[in-house]
Amino acid sequence: MSAPLPMSAPAFRWGILGAGGIARKFTDAVTQHTASEVVAVAAASGVERAQAFADEMGVPKAYGSYEQLLADPHVDLVYVATTHNNHHGPALLAIEAGKHVLVEKAFTQNEKQAQLVVDAARAKGVFVMEAMWARHLPHQYALRELIARGEIGEIVSVQADHGQALSHVERMWNPALAGGALLDLGVYPIAFAHDLLGVPDSITSVGRLRETGVDGAVSMVFDYASLGAQASLTTTMEARTPCVALIGGTEGFVTVDRTFYNPTTFTVTRDDGTSWTYDGTVPNGFQFEAAEVARCVDAGLAESPVHTLEQSLEIMRIMDEVRNQIGLIYPNEHPGPGDPLV
Ligand SMILES: NC(=O)c1ccc[n+]([C@@H]2O[C@H](COP(=O)([O-])OP(=O)(O)OC[C@H]3O[C@@H](n4cnc5c(N)ncnc54)[C@H](OP(=O)(O)O)[C@@H]3O)[C@@H](O)[C@H]2O)c1
Repeated sequence: MSAPLPMSAPAFRWGILGAGGIARKFTDAVTQHTASEVVAVAAASGVERAQAFADEMGVPKAYGSYEQLLADPHVDLVYVATTHNNHHGPALLAIEAGKHVLVEKAFTQNEKQAQLVVDAARAKGVFVMEAMWARHLPHQYALRELIARGEIGEIVSVQADHGQALSHVERMWNPALAGGALLDLGVYPIAFAHDLLGVPDSITSVGRLRETGVDGAVSMVFDYASLGAQASLTTTMEARTPCVALIGGTEGFVTVDRTFYNPTTFTVTRDDGTSWTYDGTVPNGFQFEAAEVARCVDAGLAESPVHTLEQSLEIMRIMDEVRNQIGLIYPNEHPGPGDPLV
């Protein structure tokens, strides 16, 4: 199955919590590339910030608190676009208000918070999905398909890296906002390996913590003993890296071109001497995840079959394990003696 066309998804009215950078890209995707619209935006830091966003992006309503937006009966779906430390709080508020929710990646700061969100959504019967947008992109559908039909045989190795030069971005260096490379950037290579291979049997990680306490870089090896496969994954927020992904199989390999988690191209090279290229480039790309939410909610689903809540919990559990291995703890986490850090 190829990625469903975003424009064909049912129309809903979105409200956005957090009037920041990524919310602008999401608003552009919904407005330009789906039948839905963004009808409201809220900023916890004040209505002026929300109003400036609304004026710039053509959003009709601006609120100075998340609660006000969530009380608006004309909002059907909510997009949580805040910093990692504060995904679960607004998500829980939205669920309590009976709204369906798309939560930016990383889903939460740790698995405990993720479980709270999942439990609340299931109890309330509302739809929730992590905004791991790469899973919904055309090339990722095509990758899953070619692997399922055995084009490269059995997967033996996955390599993926995600590095950006973000030394100038304050929130990335702030441990109170759960900054650092892993939650922001490393989640993509992890989600990529998880999409193809599932939960690893063992994880080995080396991290480089910086002076503020956040991780500047992390390298991870996932071993899938039961599958006979390994994944080698790296992330850094201190340099722009190629951001390519490579999948090696018993009958060929795939090179996913820069940037592997954005709409992109890939080439399949088979051991029989044949090769072919897929072009999944499209503008923006967030419209595919937004349309997935709309289709699922319209169908009465409480979660997406493309990216389930169990998969989001698994990814958070993997990241907790990486964090335990590299000693990455945020200020609002308080382990007892002998407890794991997170
Ligand atoms: N999918 C992607 O490609 C992608 C790309 C970039 C980022 N993201 C994700 O999107 C989320 C937001 O990233 P962003 O770059 O948009 O962040 P941002 O613009 O720096 O901040 C987003 C919002 O978080 C709140 N916030 C920011 N700094 C804060 C602080 N010091 N104290 C309290 N609240 C603060 C503000 O909410 P109010 O407006 O309500 O005050 C702000 O508008 C992160 O989870 C990130 O991983 C995803």
